[in-house]
Amino acid sequence: MLEIRGLNKSYGKKQVLTGVDLTVSPGEVLGLLGPNGAGKTTMASIVSGLTPADSGTVSVAGIDIRARPRQARRKLGLAPQELGVYPTLTARENMLFFGRLMGVGRGELDARIAEVAESLGVTPFLATRAHELSGGQQRRLHTALALLHRPEVLWLDEPTVGADVSARQDLLDEVRELADRGAAVVYATHYLPELEVLRARVVVLHHGRILAQGSVGELVERYAQAAVRLEFSGAIPSSLSGYLAAPGAEVIDTGLIIPAAVPGQLLAQLFATLDGDTDRLLSAEIRHPNLENAYLAIMRAARDGDHPEEEIRDAVA
Ligand SMILES: Nc1ncnc2c1ncn2[C@@H]1O[C@H](COP(=O)(O)OP(=O)(O)OP(=O)(O)O)[C@@H](O)[C@H]1O
Ligand SMILES: [Mg+2]
Repeated sequence: MLEIRGLNKSYGKKQVLTGVDLTVSPGEVLGLLGPNGAGKTTMASIVSGLTPADSGTVSVAGIDIRARPRQARRKLGLAPQELGVYPTLTARENMLFFGRLMGVGRGELDARIAEVAESLGVTPFLATRAHELSGGQQRRLHTALALLHRPEVLWLDEPTVGADVSARQDLLDEVRELADRGAAVVYATHYLPELEVLRARVVVLHHGRILAQGSVGELVERYAQAAVRLEFSGAIPSSLSGYLAAPGAEVIDTGLIIPAAVPGQLLAQLFATLDGDTDRLLSAEIRHPNLENAYLAIMRAARDGDHPEEEIRDAVA
């Protein structure tokens, strides 16, 4: 498993990580979310031993990265955000090189390359030089390199950037399977539905601090709300003007979105209120909340200066 305690890091005067604690257990996918510059890649870089932290500890599969960096690195598979393949080597040669570097025995390396290449859809271009591959193909190869030595802890930093639909599906299947077989996985992404597919525990990082965490279901329940959305031909009917002041209500052109705890009930009320104006109604929809709604609500709270998790703790106390 991966254990991070009290991690602090600054670049010059800029504090990039502040007191970050993170534990990822075997079998778990931890989805790491946060806006650009939140500190996700900096954390990956510290965990892999490339960048020293100012303070705090990291242990990979029980090995402290500062005390025994080489051993810790062998337990970790990192696919960094920045592509790291050797352009003049073929895909297969890249895999041979990284496999040996990570200590995979010669006897099993060929079979392991074939296996990983197959699972990430790299097989068709094993003999192609990396610089002749498309961006998405290079990304597949780059991710494959992190898996060769069957790491106990896997850290993938935005692995599906530029991936086509099937590459994304292959990767999500593979990540879930690796976790099911006992790997502890950190998966940083800006594509939130991926974390729903991965049944991930989610950590939201913002300005180097953990703002919120929980399962997808918990975050949705805690932060997101269902809503009703009506679309009209022409302006919003004046009969609905009373609803425009509802908390969180939003008018977008000829559409009206109103958050509701019980959206079906609100929809029935709206229909009743509309009465003679129903002929101008183009569509009516119940929006079920998802991780994206929850994430946006967490970010809104952060922008307004709230710390959502602290608020909840205070409310409970
Ligand atoms: N080598 C560096 N020197 C100085 N500042 C850095 C360095 N690397 C990162 N930073 C700063 O640290 C902060 C966090 O960057 P980081 O790359 O960790 O963010 P991120 O969460 O991975 O963002 P993204 O979603 O864009 O990948 C940013 O403000 C960035 O400018
Ligand atoms: Mg990053």
